Amino acid sequence: MKHKPTPPSLPGLPVIGNLLEFQKDRFTLLRRGFETLGPIFTIHLGPKPAVVLVGPEYHDFFFRETDKMLSMDRAYEFLNAMFKGVAFTAGPSEYDAQRHVILAPFAGKKMPGYLEIMVDEISAWLDGLGERGEFELVSAFQRITQLVGAHALMGKAFRDEMNDEFWNLYAELSAGIDPVLPPHLPLPKFIKRDRARARLAAIIQRVIDERRANPEIHNDFLQDFVEAKYKDGRPLPDELIISIILGLVFAGHETTAGQGSWALILLLQHPKYFELVRAELDEHFPPGTPFDHKVMRNLRHLDWALQETERLRPSADVIFRYNLKSYELGGYQIPKDWLTMLAPRVSHVNREIFSNVDEYDPLRFSSERAEHKVADYTLIGFGGGRHRCSGANFAHNEMAAFLALTLQRLDMHLLDKDPSVNYGLGAPRPTATRIRFQERVHSTDPALMVTA
Ligand code: HEM
Repeated sequence: MKHKPTPPSLPGLPVIGNLLEFQKDRFTLLRRGFETLGPIFTIHLGPKPAVVLVGPEYHDFFFRETDKMLSMDRAYEFLNAMFKGVAFTAGPSEYDAQRHVILAPFAGKKMPGYLEIMVDEISAWLDGLGERGEFELVSAFQRITQLVGAHALMGKAFRDEMNDEFWNLYAELSAGIDPVLPPHLPLPKFIKRDRARARLAAIIQRVIDERRANPEIHNDFLQDFVEAKYKDGRPLPDELIISIILGLVFAGHETTAGQGSWALILLLQHPKYFELVRAELDEHFPPGTPFDHKVMRNLRHLDWALQETERLRPSADVIFRYNLKSYELGGYQIPKDWLTMLAPRVSHVNREIFSNVDEYDPLRFSSERAEHKVADYTLIGFGGGRHRCSGANFAHNEMAAFLALTLQRLDMHLLDKDPSVNYGLGAPRPTATRIRFQERVHSTDPALMVTA
């Protein structure tokens, strides 16, 4: 029988293939692939070929085959030195055993407690800003996600005692992420990564020991993990709890800070839609009123703004799997040992799904238009299927609370008018974005009333 061809390739350089452009500006690279070669094409990340799939049917295939033909843990193997076989780095049977434990803290009834933490941290930041001045959005939001994360994951006492040491160590751990080089080469960045991990593990172990010695009621993730059992009744080993905590910090804080910062930037760049969001907020959450989590239900324009941000600036802009088997798709043969990849940001500018794909138009998500509802898996910024982001609601609420409280309190103006995407290590996020602000009750500057 004649073998089918492999999907067409984007031209690249000898040996490194498309790696440099992938690191510098992967959206442009992958969009070019989609627009010139169609919804299934190949890129080369150094010696490693990866097939890119675009379109709801292929997304469905990708999510259904995960943990079968398509392996998540093999694709994210390079994260193993940090997270040692939890969640996205666990093999399918270990993942099955852990899943209920990792999902437990995300149960809906716990959300009001987390929202309270978010509101407290965001309000404290706003209180510290003063009546007028400037702030840099991305670092400010990142700090808020760190404080919220520390408190929600490991409790108020940990959050209050936490100093920069924890986050400096965490930065050293992240700086050791390298999808290309073998993770145990004796390079300075890998040695630092391992030292940082050992020190972080010791810090978290201390908190676990305190919890085991004083099992009072705490409404945080750690308490859930300390009390959790495998289905056969065994408690979770401390080393696994440490890895889960580090994994959640990794999955949750930069992603939320990046996407949430884009949400505010896009609103400030689009004054007409900004006014719709503000009018809705002024109706349900007028200046000077305290935040009540029930308010969230009424903020439809804010929700659509967040969906439009997920569409245009997803923090998880690429998602990988490793092919355990060769498979056929779309008339092509995709070999075993290749990578298979989704590119949410490119899938979100698919003209077969969305109109005016490059325009910021949150109303496309309104019930009258509902462009995303033409098929399943049109909006995949939080992944899909069994491994869909377990923190999606947590992240949504943190971004929504940040926007609601900030817009309630401040008039703002972008000083850096057109931030670009910073593809460094970790999640892509906006380049530094300075904002000039004035408290609304003190607003006298007309430039700040008009927001862009
Ligand atoms: C805007 C913020 C966030 C974005 C864009 C995001 C995106 C994603 C995506 C795309 C996946 C699936 C990855 C894949 O299939 O390869 C994922 C998985 C995951 N995310 Fe998030 N995430 C965000 C925030 C969070 C937060 C705040 C937490 C926790 C507090 C979290 C915890 C997780 C976990 C545990 C997984 C693995 C789920 C599993 O394998 O079952 N994420 N996230």
